[in-house]
Amino acid sequence: MTEVAVRLGERSYKVYVAAGEVERLGVTARRHLTGNRILVITNPTVRALYGGTVQKSLAAAGFVVCEIEIPDGEEFKTLDTVKELYGKALDIGLERGDAVVALGGGVVGDTAGFFAATYKRGVALVQVPTTLLAQVDSSVGGKVGVNHPRGKNLIGAFHQPRFVVADVTTLNTLPVREIRAGLAEIIKYGIIRDVRFFEWLENRLQNLLNLEQTALEHAVSLSCRIKADVVSADEREEGIRAILNYGHTVAHALEAVGCYHHFVHGEAVGVGMVAAARLAVRLGMLSVPEAERIAALVARAGLPVEIPAGMDAEEIISAMFHDKKVVENRLTFVLPEAIGRVRIAHGVPVESINAVLTGAS
Ligand SMILES: NC(=O)c1ccc[n+]([C@@H]2O[C@H](COP(=O)([O-])OP(=O)(O)OC[C@H]3O[C@@H](n4cnc5c(N)ncnc54)[C@H](O)[C@@H]3O)[C@@H](O)[C@H]2O)c1
Ligand SMILES: [Zn+2]
Repeated sequence: MTEVAVRLGERSYKVYVAAGEVERLGVTARRHLTGNRILVITNPTVRALYGGTVQKSLAAAGFVVCEIEIPDGEEFKTLDTVKELYGKALDIGLERGDAVVALGGGVVGDTAGFFAATYKRGVALVQVPTTLLAQVDSSVGGKVGVNHPRGKNLIGAFHQPRFVVADVTTLNTLPVREIRAGLAEIIKYGIIRDVRFFEWLENRLQNLLNLEQTALEHAVSLSCRIKADVVSADEREEGIRAILNYGHTVAHALEAVGCYHHFVHGEAVGVGMVAAARLAVRLGMLSVPEAERIAALVARAGLPVEIPAGMDAEEIISAMFHDKKVVENRLTFVLPEAIGRVRIAHGVPVESINAVLTGAS
């Protein structure tokens, strides 16, 4: 087992990465929680697969366990769902000293996390992520929240979990498309912080796609360590935490112009990371071979590297402007200077972005 420490003063916590860790959840919870009652929030898909194991493990450790399901899907990451949770939690008499376990992917983690941040001014939260994306990204760092009809993640809070359990065996049941989507964020960590990890990924990509446990454990724990370091340095994204958005300026724009049906998030991040690397080349910050290495690894992970045919670069760019603070037709981008090192570049001219998106040389 690997333990990753997220250092945030009195809000510090551990991420436990290991195979079979869900079965030991009750024992771990005993070490970290003072209350005696736990509300498990999950969805029908994940409940059918892991709900029983979680319930059994918590009960064996002496907890009184309640369970509430939320519907499966990004479209249910809303205040309406949270409102339902408030009602059901009040019905069962959930108290401030009780705890919430979020069991599922990022949608469950973000929604249950926002519920835990706000119910009776905040109850203890435990994240048990069951998708690769949630294990390497959404369960660590304390951002919780829901979507608003006008945009994603517009309503939210910072609410750090008491601990996180990332059990890589849960990934065995995950559709391959979701594995590839999680790989996008893993590749991101290599590019922003750690060239040796990037090289390791180049060598071990197939082991990860084959869901080999030791490879997964290494990739998940290193990803969590990189995210933990960045979050420890800047919990509320006042500076350095923004580097975690590498590839996401273009990704969010792609998602906004209706690519939600076309792409899952990690696929949009694949396109976005390659676009940002090409932009860095264009601005004289990155060498062509390094940009090509980035594109090659993203492609080998089975992720798209180009914007889909028929999508309009102008429309994508205007979505970017809509999303971000714009100063005189210029945007802020996270750009690589080398694999393993990125810089927050302010004032990137729109013409350069346009040239990259339209493939002009
Ligand atoms: N809070 C953050 O810092 C942060 C960071 C990144 C992403 N997010 C959010 O995360 C969400 C995306 O999360 P996601 O990619 O995990 O999607 P998701 O939660 O929708 O999960 C994807 C699908 O996999 C299913 N599933 C989950 N675990 C499974 C398992 N072990 N086996 C089989 N099926 C399983 C789910 O039921 C769902 O249908 C988005 O809402 C995004 O905004 C948040
Ligand atoms: Zn992302």
